[in-house]
Amino acid sequence: MTALAEDLRPAYDVNAVRADFPILATEVHGKPVCFLDSGASAQKPRQVIDLVRWHYENEYANVHRGAYAFSENLTAAYEGAREKVRAFLNAPSERNVIFTGNTTAAINLVAYSFGLGMLKEGDEVIISDMEHHSNIVPWQLLRDMKGVVLKVAPISDDGELLMDEFKSLLTERTKLVAITHVSNVLGTVTPAKQIVEAAHAAGARVLFDGSQAVMHMPVDVQDLDCDFYVFTGHKLYGPTGIGVLYGKEDVLDAMPPFMGGGDMISTVAYEGSTWAELPAKFEAGTPPIVQAIGLGAAVDYVSGVGLQAIGMHEADLLQYATQRLSAVEGLKIIGTAAHKTAVVSFTMGDAHPHDIATIIDREGVCVRAGHHCAEPLMHRFGVTGTTRASFGMYNTREEVDVLAGALEKVKRIFG
Ligand code: ALA
Repeated sequence: MTALAEDLRPAYDVNAVRADFPILATEVHGKPVCFLDSGASAQKPRQVIDLVRWHYENEYANVHRGAYAFSENLTAAYEGAREKVRAFLNAPSERNVIFTGNTTAAINLVAYSFGLGMLKEGDEVIISDMEHHSNIVPWQLLRDMKGVVLKVAPISDDGELLMDEFKSLLTERTKLVAITHVSNVLGTVTPAKQIVEAAHAAGARVLFDGSQAVMHMPVDVQDLDCDFYVFTGHKLYGPTGIGVLYGKEDVLDAMPPFMGGGDMISTVAYEGSTWAELPAKFEAGTPPIVQAIGLGAAVDYVSGVGLQAIGMHEADLLQYATQRLSAVEGLKIIGTAAHKTAVVSFTMGDAHPHDIATIIDREGVCVRAGHHCAEPLMHRFGVTGTTRASFGMYNTREEVDVLAGALEKVKRIFG
């Protein structure tokens, strides 16, 4: 692991970090790759890649099942990864940390178990106008199955949650507020503690989608006092196929199982079955074993550099990128919240976002274009899509310059 910095050190050696990510030394169309799409999926450090490979080559078996060394060692490594995630989120216990396939699976788990299992017709769920489809559609399915009421909290033209309007939506029927911690399109950091305070005062539980947050800032679920917190491993420099649901123990205990199968039971008989203790109750079937271990390595990696330091490095990139891109004639940034992560979504006149992305790909620049799985948010801003540059711990000011130069070419092509 690259132990470069204490948490409070202002910056770190970005070139040393880059050297840990083999893919950053590759070329695209004969140009050095300039990867600015970490919001979609982040690249992986050698420490993650090597550990995943090592397990498949040297020590692999199923977990919780085998009375032999491979299985016992894998079980210890898998549960060790859970402890790393627990510490990463400052969750009180490993019982609070459930491994899922990704964020979407974690939110669906809550929608089906907490929502379908515990809510009643007429109960209310509040989301915001800047949610990813994964934090919209599960609640629509719940609305259609259960008759719960889905409310949407509005946002300002800068992309900030309108707190007074949000508070006015809370009633005694509100049972859950499910809101992003950081918008994948706008980069907006939502006022999480204020949301929790207001929701709890109304008797509602709170779920934060932390998919775009945990790689940019320290997250302490006990300090936030949220009831659920979800994130995915692949955006945190870990493998795909692994996600996390944090939940408070009282609510997880009260929730019925979501999926049934092996590992989530205590006893099984045809007349009825009983459930395993947390967290196994929510981990039916063979889990994503090596993916979880790889996520543990990713957590070690970012913790070694320090989330405070990463946040400061990325804040500098955001400030520089905002300044450089604002100078490109005709470019309009969508998402100008006072508190945002290093994500810059933009439009350029009539140029289609897909055309922009395709043109700058020839310069080696990788960005995402389109609706970003947030169609209602696109409608809110009156666009069909945007082009989005999303930065990670390994990006540099020089890469911002490459992006700005590539966008000048786009401008010349479109006049
Ligand atoms: N949710 C991911 C993104 O924002 C895929 O790009």
